[in-house]
Amino acid sequence: MSTDFDPLVTFGPDHAATYDDRFKALHGIKDMIHLALESTFANLPETAHLLIAGAGTGAEVRHLAPLFPNWRFTLVDPASAMLEIAKRHAEAEGFADRCTFHATYVSEVDAGNFDAATSLLVSHFVQQADARTDYFRSIADRLKPGAPMLNADLCADQSGAEFETLMKFWQGMMAKAGMAPEGQEQYAKSFGTIFACHGPSDVEAMIETAGFIPPVQCVQAGLIKGWLTAKA
Ligand SMILES: C[S@@+](CC[C@H](N)C(=O)[O-])C[C@H]1O[C@@H](n2cnc3c(N)ncnc32)[C@H](O)[C@@H]1O
Repeated sequence: MSTDFDPLVTFGPDHAATYDDRFKALHGIKDMIHLALESTFANLPETAHLLIAGAGTGAEVRHLAPLFPNWRFTLVDPASAMLEIAKRHAEAEGFADRCTFHATYVSEVDAGNFDAATSLLVSHFVQQADARTDYFRSIADRLKPGAPMLNADLCADQSGAEFETLMKFWQGMMAKAGMAPEGQEQYAKSFGTIFACHGPSDVEAMIETAGFIPPVQCVQAGLIKGWLTAKA
């Protein structure tokens, strides 16, 4: 059963205020994804302009901005409470002048000509296949041909023999992050309720249909999978 996920409710002020600390114990996983971003995008132009879809509190930009001091970033997220925190981080860390912030959906942002895009832990919230494909298309439509995108999502083949073991492993990780047993129990039912139930091959097909070259899975940590692709 799918629920109507509303990022404005889920990622409202209370969640936004605690988001950065919530999974601190699992920072190694985010660090790995950010390292993948850093190496994948290393050959972008000196003055590249990146589209950060579902930027949240801006973790990916906080990693990239100091490493690539001439890059510019357009952060898009419908949850203004999350984006407000991203803005505060950018000001405190000295790269706000290289950022623009749009508290809306990517499809509402003026057509761009971006050199690369990130979508980290976002599209799994879009539960309907057509809407998820449209979300990827809204990113593709704003990229230059050949521009890379790194997409990471919670995603698993629930019919696969390994799913039960993977879910148990992930519940253990959630316990490390301080999640109570009831929360871990809820995770077991999360695909199709909190998160979209599409398996890896479904997500890959959606990305390709949306105007990207066939994505290649390049990272995995438990239930998180990351794919590298580029605008066709
Ligand atoms: C788990 S957070 C990830 C934030 C950030 N990318 C990171 O890695 O920390 C998911 C973010 O996606 C945003 N989001 C949810 N649905 C979205 C959509 N359809 N389009 C763009 N952003 C969306 C939420 O508001 C939230 O800020």
